[in-house]
Amino acid sequence: MKIRYLLTALFAAALGGLASLGASHPAAAQGKELVLYCSPQIEWCQLMVKEFEKATGIDVAMTRKSSGETFAQIKAESRNPKGDVWWGGTGDPHLQAAEEDLTAEYTATNFDELHDWAQRQAAAGNNRTVGIYAGALGIGYNSELLEQAGLAPPKCWSDLTKAEYKGEIQIANPNSSGTSYTTLATLVQIFGEDEAFEFMKAMHKNVNQYTKSGSAPIKNAARGETAIAITFQHDMVTQKVLGFPIEIVSPCEGTGFEIGSMSIIKGGPNPDSAKAFYNFALRADIQEMAASARAYQVPSNASATPPPQAPKLEDIKLIDYDFKKYGSSEVRRRLLKRWDEEVGSLPR
Ligand code: F6P
Repeated sequence: MKIRYLLTALFAAALGGLASLGASHPAAAQGKELVLYCSPQIEWCQLMVKEFEKATGIDVAMTRKSSGETFAQIKAESRNPKGDVWWGGTGDPHLQAAEEDLTAEYTATNFDELHDWAQRQAAAGNNRTVGIYAGALGIGYNSELLEQAGLAPPKCWSDLTKAEYKGEIQIANPNSSGTSYTTLATLVQIFGEDEAFEFMKAMHKNVNQYTKSGSAPIKNAARGETAIAITFQHDMVTQKVLGFPIEIVSPCEGTGFEIGSMSIIKGGPNPDSAKAFYNFALRADIQEMAASARAYQVPSNASATPPPQAPKLEDIKLIDYDFKKYGSSEVRRRLLKRWDEEVGSLPR
């Protein structure tokens, strides 16, 4: 008898606990949660969380990490996935995640509204990823710093190895940063692999720091900590809009670009919330909100109006970037290993 009373009391207490949890976190009690791994700028990540929670009542737990770092985390967690959606970041590691069976196949309800380039990204990843925005790489510089140093602005990638720029350049580490991996892959496609590595070794003398995050170099240039930064052009626009003396160069040889992507993590804890977020993030009205977080990428929904400040991709000399090849496991892994051995390990 006593045991029965005890069990009844425990059961009632458990129910009460659940009820009070439900009262303070109604979405959580109904299992309406989402664990979001976010790789674009933190301000945009926070805006997406706020808008998604408002629209759906689903509680979002978000962490922001760079593209390569997020890929590594999803891979490390693959036996016991903890994340639901990986939103944003350059497309190459999303393609590698698709190939390595880390992400789930899903076609968004609004897939037909997307630009061709965003749909092609999905096809390249066997519908385990999709394009959410695009943006071109560039060379940014702090015009006041260069002028004070009496230096001419660079015009081409090849200018960046000039002795006069010693210690003046910043770029991220391509292992952690998708921006920097896109740069590496761009140089390989422009110059050929061996010549690109010779170029990166020569530029290494001029690099004062390899940052973790891709956009850090242009933020540091804006604040006068480095004169020249290699990042996506839309991240340079953000600093210009904030009033910093940043100028943007599209390199004379041509430049690479990203198809920022999104993927559902295979075996994640909240698959229904993941699908809801996927469809939400591709909506034109949601993509148009990016500019209010000073994010100036080109949106993938063809009905979304790009922010007026977004660099116009049609005016930039873009290379015919081979996303499938440079997002393949074999190529990405090999190029990063070669970078570590031949560039990252060089003394400075
Ligand atoms: O800051 C935004 C952004 O440039 C995105 O367009 C891009 O996908 C992402 O950052 C890449 O960040 P990281 O180089 O840190 O992986």
